[in-house]
Amino acid sequence: MSANRPAAVVVLAAGEGTRMKSATPKVLHALCGRSLVGHVVAASRELSPEHLVVVVGHAREQVSAHLAETDAEVRTAVQHEQNGTGHAVRMGLEELSDSGVALDGTVIVVCGDTPLLTGETLQRLAAAHDADGNAVTVLSAEVPDATGYGRIVREDATGAVTAIVEHKDATDAQRAIREINSGVFAFDAQLLTDALGKVRTDNSQGEEYLTDVLGILREAGHRVGACVAGDHREILGINNRVQLAEARRLLNERLLERAMLSGVTVVDPATTWIDVTVTFEPDALVHPGTQLLGATHLATDTEVGPNSRLTDTTVGRGAVVSFTVADGAEIGAGANVGPYTYLRPGTRLGAKAKAGTYVEMKNATIGEGTKVPHLSYVGDATIGEQSNIGAASVFVNYDGVNKHHTTIGSHCRTGADNMLVAPVTIGDGAYTAAGSVITKDVPPGSLAVARGQQRNIEGWVARKRPGSAAARAAEAARREDEGQQ
Ligand code: UD1
Ligand code: CA
Repeated sequence: MSANRPAAVVVLAAGEGTRMKSATPKVLHALCGRSLVGHVVAASRELSPEHLVVVVGHAREQVSAHLAETDAEVRTAVQHEQNGTGHAVRMGLEELSDSGVALDGTVIVVCGDTPLLTGETLQRLAAAHDADGNAVTVLSAEVPDATGYGRIVREDATGAVTAIVEHKDATDAQRAIREINSGVFAFDAQLLTDALGKVRTDNSQGEEYLTDVLGILREAGHRVGACVAGDHREILGINNRVQLAEARRLLNERLLERAMLSGVTVVDPATTWIDVTVTFEPDALVHPGTQLLGATHLATDTEVGPNSRLTDTTVGRGAVVSFTVADGAEIGAGANVGPYTYLRPGTRLGAKAKAGTYVEMKNATIGEGTKVPHLSYVGDATIGEQSNIGAASVFVNYDGVNKHHTTIGSHCRTGADNMLVAPVTIGDGAYTAAGSVITKDVPPGSLAVARGQQRNIEGWVARKRPGSAAARAAEAARREDEGQQ
C-alpha cells in the first residue's frame, strides 16, 4: 500500500447541498455514527496520504469545527464561492502550496458526499493509476440509473476514455451511457495543477468543472484512464434525503454482514442498526429492533434486544439486556437489564447485578450480585455487593439546588417504597422497613423504620358511612365472625 501512498488527498466539501433542504450543511448529515464527510475522511486516511485537505465553503465554520473534532490532523482550504469542482480542487492545492508544500506524485480527489466509498477501493484506484502510468484515472461505475451523473465518454474503436460530460451538458446519445463518473480521481499532481489553469466555464452551469481536466490532459497527449468500481453502490453520492436513507441502509448492511461473519447472531438485520464504531465478540446475539451506537461493545454470549438502544455502552460476557435504553453505561458480566429499563451516563452495573422493570439509573455504581428489580430511580449512588433494593424506591438525590450522593453497603435489604434522602449512608448488612423515608444514616446491621405508626379506628365506617355497601360488608363480616364464635 505504501508503494501507492499519495502526496495528497483533496476532499471536496464546500457545496451547500440545496437538495437536502436542510439547515445543516449536507456533508454534516450523519449515517452509522459518522457524518458524510467523516466517512470520506476515514476512508482517505487508509491511504496514509502525506497531506489531507478538505475544501470547505458553505457553512465553513461549522464544517471546519466538525472536522477538527473528527480528525485533528485534517487541514482545511476555503472556497469562498462555489464556482465548481475544478475551482474547489484549485483552492485545495493553493492552500497546500501557500503553506510551502511542493506536491510530487499522486493527488487523489474525493467528494465529501460519497460515504460508502472504502479505503480499499481508493487503494485500488491509486494502484491502477500508478500501474498504467496515467496522468489521470477516474473511478467510474456502471449504474442502473445514471441520471444526474457525469458520463464517461469512450472512443468507439478502442474503448479509450476521451472525456467526461456532465448530465446537464450531455447529448441524448451521451445520456444513454451508463458508465458514470464517481467524482473520485487520481491525478499526477503537476499535470493537475497545470490543467486546472486551463479549465473554462462555458458550460450550462457556468462553473469550473474538474471533469474537464480529463479531456484537457488527453488532448495534450497524456494518458488518461478509468478504473471501474466493483460495486456501483459504493460510489453513491448523496444529494437528497432519499439517497441518504439508501446509503444508510447499505452501510448498515455492510456492517452487519461483517459482524455476522465474525460470529455475531443478528436475528433481524432489517431492523438492527449499528454504527461503524460498534464492536462485538463472537456469539453475541442481537434481537430485532435494536440500535447499537457509538462505542458500544457486546462481549461473548451477550443477548441484547429486542427493542433496545445502546449508546457508548459496554455489555459484559453473558449479560442479558432487553427493551432497554442505555447511554454511557457499563453492564457487568452476567448482569440482567430490563425489560423497560433506562440506564443513563455513569451507570456501572457489577457482575450478575440486576436492573429490572421500570428502573432508571444514573451515575450509580451497583456492586456484584446487587438487585434493583422494580420501579425505582437510582441516581448518584454507590451500592455494595449482594444487596437488594425494594420495589418502588427513589434515591432522592436533588434538593432543588445540588445533587447529593447515597451510599449503601453490601448485603443490605431496603424495604419497598423507600425514599432515600441524600446525602445518606446505609451500613453493611442493614435493613430498612417498607415505606420508610430514610433521612439519617443507618449503622451496619440495624433495622431502620421511618414511617408513621398505624392506628385503626374501629366502627368508623358504620358511624360515618351508614347504609353504604362498605358498611353492609363490614356488618356481614362482623355477624359471620360472631356466628363462628
Ligand atoms: C459531480 C461531478 C459528476 C459526478 C458526480 C458524482 C463535476 C462537474 N461533476 O456532480 O461528474 O458524476 O459528482 O457524485 O465534477 N463542491 C465543492 N465546490 C464547488 C462545487 C462542488 O466543494 O464549487 C463539492 C460538493 O460539496 C460535493 C462535491 O464537490 O461534495 C460534488 O459536488 P456536487 O454539486 O454534488 O456535484 P454533482 O452535480 O453531483
Ligand atoms: Ca454529488
